[in-house]
Amino acid sequence: MIIREFRRPDINRVLEIEQKSFKDPYPVNILLDIYNLGAGFLVAQQDNIIVGYIIFWIRFQDEGHIISIAVDKKYRRNEVGSQLVFTALEIFKRYNITLIKLEVRVSNRGAIKFYKKLGFIEKKVLKDYYEDFEDAVLMERNLDKKKDNDARME
Ligand SMILES: CC(C)(COP(=O)(O)OP(=O)(O)OC[C@H]1O[C@@H](n2cnc3c(N)ncnc32)[C@H](O)[C@@H]1OP(=O)(O)O)[C@@H](O)C(=O)NCCC(=O)NCCS
Repeated sequence: MIIREFRRPDINRVLEIEQKSFKDPYPVNILLDIYNLGAGFLVAQQDNIIVGYIIFWIRFQDEGHIISIAVDKKYRRNEVGSQLVFTALEIFKRYNITLIKLEVRVSNRGAIKFYKKLGFIEKKVLKDYYEDFEDAVLMERNLDKKKDNDARME
């Protein structure tokens, strides 16, 4: 598997994974707008097939944010999601980011376990965060730029 930067022709496959993974998927124009605004956008590719992606950006000087991550159902529980997050964390470190935040639906227990395994902690509940008024869990992870291989050690 390789992890590489998103390219414009990847959009249909990313959209397909997004639509199969979320009940409120981002529409194509929003995904492209986020990309055009300069967000980090990586895809995981196996045998020429895109099997997952991650979108992230720098929100404040020292704070990064994971906007979206999804892996094709057929390829889950195979470390694809972890590799995407590790790669994003390495990029954040290059920009001296020390805190990563993300929001996840309270009902998405699988994703919450996934993020905990990668060193994120549940920080607080954000009431009525989503359009359907479901609450979000705000999760955070510190990044220690002095520690070698910080992302993979925890
Ligand atoms: C969350 C998601 C990206 C994880 O991708 P993945 O490639 O399956 O993750 P990994 O294989 O790297 O998982 C690493 C570890 O996280 C934990 N984990 C991952 N998915 C899990 C699940 N559904 N339930 C419980 N634990 C889970 C496990 O400990 C796993 O290790 P293991 O397989 O050895 O037990 C994927 O399930 C997905 O696309 N879900 C739908 C979209 C989504 O919910 N995105 C996050 C929204 S904020």
